[in-house]
Parts: sequence; structure tokens; C-alpha cells
Amino acid sequence: MGTLLLGKSVSNIKRATPFLKWAGGKGQLLKQIERLFPSRFNNYIEPFSGGGAVFFYLYSTDRLNDKKTILIDSNEELINCYLAIKKDVNKLIKILCSEKFVNTEEVFYEIRAEEPKDMFESAARTLYLNKTCYNGLYRVNSSGKFNVPFGRYRNPLICDVDNLETVHTALKNIKIVLGDFEKCLEYAQPHDFIYFDPPYQPISKTSSFTGYTKNLFNEKEQERLAELVQKLDKRKCKIMLSNSDNPFIEGLYKDYRIECVKARRSINCNGFNRGEINELVVMNY
Ligand SMILES: C[S@@+](CC[C@H](N)C(=O)[O-])C[C@H]1O[C@@H](n2cnc3c(N)ncnc32)[C@H](O)[C@@H]1O
Repeated sequence: MGTLLLGKSVSNIKRATPFLKWAGGKGQLLKQIERLFPSRFNNYIEPFSGGGAVFFYLYSTDRLNDKKTILIDSNEELINCYLAIKKDVNKLIKILCSEKFVNTEEVFYEIRAEEPKDMFESAARTLYLNKTCYNGLYRVNSSGKFNVPFGRYRNPLICDVDNLETVHTALKNIKIVLGDFEKCLEYAQPHDFIYFDPPYQPISKTSSFTGYTKNLFNEKEQERLAELVQKLDKRKCKIMLSNSDNPFIEGLYKDYRIECVKARRSINCNGFNRGEINELVVMNY
């Protein structure tokens, strides 16, 4: 018997979900954007993969079967988690499920201050901090050190063994790349599906979100991304891009099809301004 996932029957594939809470995660939006995915495509590339909600959804609904998949992100700690889960999930689980990783304020600040000595300890630390910190935020200070405070959750699931094992299976044949979104040019071929979910252009000055990495994703970066989209469009790739609903973004993509969807933001820059907002989905198909 298959399981039901957003109305589709899926057999043999265990449903994998993001192993981290990630700002801008697309989990909430899948119901609305899945009808916009191309029905046919060759390989799949996600240059701002973050928590990978779209990747895990496509995987779990069997749409990546036999396709090459490339996940790219510039966040080193995040990519390290993907690589550690892919390489040896049992080793990671052994560390993360150990007695060390308990949800107390004291332990949280001790672990936050640690310098992990290898990729598995580093991934365990990232996963632990993500589950126990305030609002699942990822934010670093000017020297690149994670600086989100303790979250005071009653009983967070720090080590989700089942999902980590399923994610390990999902990542088996996936190429995971640490780097800038332009790296996708090295992989993209005609008819590949490329889903871009960049840090959003702030709708207003006060809603500006700068927390993912040390570098800001400013207007210049949005323009650099729009130029890349043009190149990939000429290469006949199938492109889908999410961003906030504002005139600057609409202007950058005025030659493409644009649909508006309503999003519920669960994490944003500072934990307030939750509620429904419009988002744009840009497509060249
Ligand atoms: C909106 S989030 C993606 C969320 C993802 N779709 C999900 O469901 O979790 C944007 C991602 O872009 C990454 N990022 C920021 N600047 C980047 C760059 N220049 N190149 C590649 N990735 C970048 C951030 O680390 C972050 O993970």
C-alpha cells in the first residue's frame, strides 16, 4: 500500500522531510506550488537548497527517479550536515543521540561555544542547535559564529532517527555542492528543472532579513541572479523561482510568467511579522 502525500499515491518510497528548520523553508507552500512544477524534466538542480523542502517533496513523490539531482547552498554548516548524513548517518546518529545533547540552557551554550573537530561532530552540533535554539533561526555574528539564543522548548525532537535514515537514503545518488548559486551553470543542461529559492528581497526596510550567511543578499545579488536566469533560459532549462511580491522583483522578471501565491511565514527575521504574505513564483515555461 502506498502512502498519501498531498493527494498523490506514492509507493515504495519512504517520505523524507527536511532535517532542519530553515528560514524561508518551502514546506508550507508545497500545496500551492506543486501544481506549478513542470510535468516533465530531465535532471533537477536546486541552487539555494536550504532545508530542501522542495527536493524532499520531489523525491518522496518519486519525481526524481533516475534523474541526476544537484543541491547547492553557500552555507557551510548546512552543506556539512547534508554531507555527513549522506556519508555515515549511523555515526551522526550515535553522536547526536548521546547523552551529551540534552535540552538545557547550560548545555546549549556550552555546545554553541564548541569548535567541533570533525564533520560528524559539526553536523551533530548544527542539528542540535537548530532544534533547541530560538525559533530554529540560523544567524551568525560578524566573525561567522552562530549566535541565536536558547529556545526554551519543552521537548524538542533533537535526534529524529527515522527521518535521518530516510534522508540518508534520499541523498544516496545526490550531488551536494557548497558554493555560490552560479555553480549551477556547471551542471545545467537543456530541459533540466532548476528551482531557485533565494533569500528574499525585503518587502520593506524593517523586514530586511540578513541572517543566513555572513554576506547580504542585496539588490545587486538579486540582479546577478536574474542575469543567471536569463542565461539558463537561453540554455532551455525549465526555471522556477520564488521571491517576495514587490515591484523590484517583478521588474527583474517581467518577461516571464509570474504567479502569486499566499504564504504563511513560520520563521522570519526576528520572529514577528508572522501571518500571510504574498509571494511570487516566476516560471519560464
Ligand atoms: C530561502 S532559503 C532556501 C529555503 C529552502 N527552499 C527550504 O525549503 O528550506 C535561501 C538559501 O540560500 C542560501 N544562500 C544565500 N546566498 C547564497 C548564494 N550566494 N549562493 C547559494 N546559496 C545561497 C542560504 O544559505 C539559504 O539556505
